[in-house]
Amino acid sequence: FRRNLFTSNSTQMAIKNVVVIGGGLMGSGIAQVAAQNGQNVTIVDLDQKVLDKAKNAINVSLQRIAKKLFKDDSVKAEKFLSDSMAHVSLSTSPEQAVNQSDLVVEAIVEKLHIKQKLFQTLDAVAPTHTVFASNTSSLPIGEIAQSTNRKDRFVGLHFFNPVPVMKLLEVIRIPETSDDTYNLVMEWGKSIGKQTVTCKDTPGFIVNRLLVPYMMEAVRLLERGDATARDIDTAMKLGAGYPMGPFELLDYVGLDTSKFIIEGWAEKFPDNPLFKPVPTLNRLVEEGKLGIKTGEGFYKYQ
Ligand code: CAA
Ligand code: NAD
Repeated sequence: FRRNLFTSNSTQMAIKNVVVIGGGLMGSGIAQVAAQNGQNVTIVDLDQKVLDKAKNAINVSLQRIAKKLFKDDSVKAEKFLSDSMAHVSLSTSPEQAVNQSDLVVEAIVEKLHIKQKLFQTLDAVAPTHTVFASNTSSLPIGEIAQSTNRKDRFVGLHFFNPVPVMKLLEVIRIPETSDDTYNLVMEWGKSIGKQTVTCKDTPGFIVNRLLVPYMMEAVRLLERGDATARDIDTAMKLGAGYPMGPFELLDYVGLDTSKFIIEGWAEKFPDNPLFKPVPTLNRLVEEGKLGIKTGEGFYKYQ
């Protein structure tokens, strides 16, 4: 079986059973795109309530997609929805969930030691052939993989929010990643409808290395009193053609996740002015204003 999995260059997809760890914003989206492309997906979270919310979010998102794909055919739309939902399972036990997995995609909190601890546990129980991937926004894949004995079967798979809509998947190889593993995940990315790009294990990979400093510069512009958040957002939407302004995007990504990213880089690269801590971001997170997910960030949401 292992040989088939790694040597397959046929059009038949080798990855059938996917486990997504973390049922938050990203995990639910990653699970959805796999399920809607016919793969069996188990979402794992510590909290059953998060899992129920994830399943509901997937259902709502699939309905939007079904309406678009099959607008004149309610029978096909209903079938797409029920077939996709039938591929989703929920679990609070990572050890049990990974038993039958071909691919594990981790999308838990952006903290290195927590991710390392998780992968160390999974490494002991997952089948030998199972490929491990992290959806980290900013942490070195090599350092996360350090906690396992399967660095040749370890990659970064970096998705974008909202996962069902954003077409890109960044695939990050560490020096130890085998060609078989790399080819397998590239093929998997295509099978779930994503356009893949490849990047070395460098801070922020491609998109976040450019996007995060840009968003932090926007907050610094606000902190200096040069313009309002609303005007900065309007300017970047109408003047640069971005779908969201930087403050809308920060609220969308989550201010906690954004803070973890910049803090991690500031610690590692203290001399880089692009990575300096941003006081307004820290204050909002301290006040529990994490963006859309808590109802308030730079803006208020109903
Ligand atoms: N599920 C399914 N479909 C969805 C959806 C979801 N969760 N969210 C939006 N859509 C669909 C809508 O149905 C709609 O489809 P049609 O146009 O065909 O009707 C389309 O997407 C647009 O949605 P809306 O009309 O509701 O809103 P919009 O036009 O403002 O688009 C958006 C919403 C796609 C989020 C857009 O604002 C956008 O692209 N924003 C920028 C997002 C971005 O930059 N993401 C990257 C963040 S950084 C990151 O993810 C990396 C990291 O590590 C931090
Ligand atoms: P989130 O807070 O929405 O979800 C994280 C989930 O992980 C929570 O439901 C939490 O209960 C769960 N969790 C935490 N520790 C766990 C553990 N040990 N086992 C199982 N579940 C656990 O966060 P998110 O925005 O989905 O981000 C998840 C990851 O994806 C982070 O690494 C983040 O950097 C990355 N990411 C985020 C975005 C974004 O726009 N938010 C984009 C790309 C990548």
